[in-house]
Amino acid sequence: MLTAFDFEPICFANMPLARYDYMAHGSDSEFTLRRNREAFQWVDLVERPGVSPAAVNTATELLGLKLEMPILIAPSTNQRDLHPEGDSAMYQGATAAHTPMIVASGSSIPIQKVAASATGPRWSQFYPIQNLGAARDQLELFQAHGATAIVVTVDQQTSRYERDLHDRNLGGSPRVQRGAAAAAPPAAQGPARYGVETRRLWYSWKYLDDIRPFIKGPMLIKGILTAEDAKLCVERGYDGIIVSNHGGRTLDYVPSTLEVLPEVVAGAGGKIPVLVDSGFRRGSDLVKAMALGASAVCLGRAPRWALGAFGPAGVQRLLEIVQTEFREAMAKTGRASLAALDHTAVRTDFP
Ligand SMILES: Cc1cc2nc3c(=O)[nH]c(=O)nc-3n(C[C@H](O)[C@H](O)[C@H](O)COP(=O)(O)O)c2cc1C
Repeated sequence: MLTAFDFEPICFANMPLARYDYMAHGSDSEFTLRRNREAFQWVDLVERPGVSPAAVNTATELLGLKLEMPILIAPSTNQRDLHPEGDSAMYQGATAAHTPMIVASGSSIPIQKVAASATGPRWSQFYPIQNLGAARDQLELFQAHGATAIVVTVDQQTSRYERDLHDRNLGGSPRVQRGAAAAAPPAAQGPARYGVETRRLWYSWKYLDDIRPFIKGPMLIKGILTAEDAKLCVERGYDGIIVSNHGGRTLDYVPSTLEVLPEVVAGAGGKIPVLVDSGFRRGSDLVKAMALGASAVCLGRAPRWALGAFGPAGVQRLLEIVQTEFREAMAKTGRASLAALDHTAVRTDFP
């Protein structure tokens, strides 16, 4: 295993197509999914001599976390599709590579078990639950089991995954087959008729304010793609932003996160940290985002491929590969510390 990409075909070979597709798919035509990767071609690195990889210091502090590298594991569901120990196995691999993990609210292993399976720093992700009492209960549960920050995901309101529909038509999806075996569903009503995710259409800024008192530590908002929304996050007192299009799984034809990162960073005005995810695979990808103002990068599919390929040891190896690449790319751009990694390390040519 020499790059993150090497893990994907092994992961693919280890599981039924429908499970792989659940992870790989993007919304609709998958334009944003592809664009998340294409965007890295529109950002050049500026090579400068004079810094050796051994001299590079990648340490940083993020909302109370001391990080050796500005890398976290993005939250993602159904990790038991990848490994029998699911999220616990991911957490073990992350801890072995000194990388914090953000556990998904829909983790396939209960949070109590995940928490007991390793010792590294851990945040929890939360999908809005309309009933405030139930929201409070879930947030308290995550925090009681060691989440030192909460990531509230606000995107993915309009997703439709055509790959999964095709898998169902070909009879290949165990998850959808169960539904298909049941009686035919009644004809959809209202927005559902148009393929819109009705269970998430009610989100509001007021709701985020309402749950703020239930969160004792930092509260980050995941799924921000504009300067306007970044400003609102600052004004309303949230503690961090994750620029994310959910790995191309939310509204298709939104831009790549790399393209909008500079405007979101400008909107946040240096008042709160701006993290980013969607499409990050290589150390040099991370250097580009950090140069454009990110405080850290979250990895979604890459560690999932590693978990599906080789379990916790795979996750550890994947993270060590990306860490080494990141250090090397920093050295080649002549940057000895994250503070020195500014916009002069890149030249952007977005279309
Ligand atoms: C299979 C899968 C499941 C995901 N589940 C969640 C989730 O439950 N909550 C969430 O906030 N994001 C979820 N995400 C999005 C990730 O947190 C992250 O935004 C995305 O994977 C980043 O893009 P990348 O996969 O290209 O790195 C999921 C992503 C994938 C691929």
